[in-house]
Amino acid sequence: MVLITVSCVNNKEPKAVTAISKAWWKEAVVYQIYPRSFKDTNGDGIGDMKGIIEELDYIKSLGINAVWINPIYSSPNADNGYDVSDYRNIMSDFGTMEDFDSLLQGLHDRNIKFIMDLVVNHSSDEHEWFKQSRSSRDNPYRNYYHWWPAEKGKPPYRYSLFDAKGDAWKYDSITNAYYLHYFSQKQPDLNWENPKVRQEVFDIMKFWADKGVDGFRLDAFQFVAKDTTFPKLPDGFEKNFIQYYAMQDGLHDYLKEMNREVLSKYDVMSVAEGAGRNFKEAHELVDEDRHELNMAYAFDGVDLAKPDGYDLIKFKNTFTKWDQEFSKKGWLSIFLANHDQARLVSRFGNDSPEFREVSEKMLNTFILSMRGTPYCYYGDELGMTNIDFDSISQYQDIATINAYKKALSEGKDMKKFMSDLNFSSRDNGRTPMQWDDSKNAGFTSGKPWLPVNDNYKYINVATEDKNPNSILNHFRNMVKLRRENPVLIYGSYQLLQPKHPDIYAYTRTLDDQKMLVLLNFTDHNSSIELPQTRAVQKTLINNYNSVVAIEGEKVTLKPYQAVILSLN
Ligand code: GLC
Ligand code: CA
Repeated sequence: MVLITVSCVNNKEPKAVTAISKAWWKEAVVYQIYPRSFKDTNGDGIGDMKGIIEELDYIKSLGINAVWINPIYSSPNADNGYDVSDYRNIMSDFGTMEDFDSLLQGLHDRNIKFIMDLVVNHSSDEHEWFKQSRSSRDNPYRNYYHWWPAEKGKPPYRYSLFDAKGDAWKYDSITNAYYLHYFSQKQPDLNWENPKVRQEVFDIMKFWADKGVDGFRLDAFQFVAKDTTFPKLPDGFEKNFIQYYAMQDGLHDYLKEMNREVLSKYDVMSVAEGAGRNFKEAHELVDEDRHELNMAYAFDGVDLAKPDGYDLIKFKNTFTKWDQEFSKKGWLSIFLANHDQARLVSRFGNDSPEFREVSEKMLNTFILSMRGTPYCYYGDELGMTNIDFDSISQYQDIATINAYKKALSEGKDMKKFMSDLNFSSRDNGRTPMQWDDSKNAGFTSGKPWLPVNDNYKYINVATEDKNPNSILNHFRNMVKLRRENPVLIYGSYQLLQPKHPDIYAYTRTLDDQKMLVLLNFTDHNSSIELPQTRAVQKTLINNYNSVVAIEGEKVTLKPYQAVILSLN
């Protein structure tokens, strides 16, 4: 990475000049594709690589310059590809290696980078390594995973996020031992303490980097380091996942080694899922002088939304704190949705017919005007919403199904459980992409693996493409504004009126370029008084067609109104 000096020349004379460490991945707008749900070309109801290839021009039309695609490796699909059985092959549902090569070429031809999901906290139990590992205690692959011999008794309790009993140890009779799985039983954890495992992973990364991939998103990586003596955890804290399972000793050594062996040798970006347990740990993962990863992907923001809503003041504080902490060093990701969350507009906006469009445009304005690399999840450029499932049989997600079994066996209030699920299940964010108003939204000619949302008749690409006021076209305008204005990428961020209960207001400043962002997070009109309004030059973005109501220092915003104003 090079340190370049940027000077923004407005009139004749260059004003103050800020030294910025620039990088392509800081300037990227990432579009996340869940391949299973994007586009099916062979009628089996499952999205595939050829489908993404068919839609490359659409992807390009968004203005984005990077895509992150969820795992595409061979997999028995216990967790939709997050259980890899062969890291050097393509899942047959998705196509072939030739398809992958064409996809990568097609992206690169359009100047779009490709970020690969790397799932190496665990593999599938159907991976050859695990088959070998479980076959005998003296198999050369035994130490690729974590085993606890049953003659030592039951291993100290470890919590599993996806297990129907919440137990991360699974007894395997073949060798009379337990193996560890932080996720489902079909996802045994790899033993990162074993240098051979690390070398395998680095070789896999090189295999893909040599093919030309531009980055890696490290799935669940915070959990790879383990104290392999498996001490008993303090009573009552055994389920404290972040505290006792994340960021354990060894993690930074593994990352430094990965950086040395792979990342530093290619022009690739790297981001891990999660950002440590506090700001200090987040910095330790991503600061340049650490030589580990490039950017932090923190959950504090996305985690704020609960079935009963979220508090805007807290929301502002959270994003502001993270920005402040990373204003001098390190770099952040900005996101409010992904494949593990419900839909953006249903969780953070208002998906009622009256406000769905404006509130989704407002949220996209937010994500695309913050400092940090924005990650936009497929369908959120259209305003796709949660799906309304009422029976557990409609859900497909392993996390959801096992959580249901667990709740049932623990005698939980199942009515509440189902209603929470309706709001938060990951399947909400995984329904097929809505392309047009034809059968199955143009996603498939067969039976979609997960139902298409009924609202595809009016929420779809074809309809929105034609309408200059659509969410889709607002999204495109926002991406364009960001990419054309370094102030939105590198400019400093300043929160205004932190205590305003309805409006999120901030400025972005880079040398002599300054923008004011005003976002009304409520369903009613709201006003704010700001001296900055006296310097307003131009309205750059507005999710309403009417002129922004500014009277002296007072701006009145309509429900969910989002505006970006340039200041002099
Ligand atoms: C990450 C992924 C999630 C997956 C889990 C196990 O959290 O984002 O989708 O289920 O890891 O790999
Ligand atoms: Ca298919």
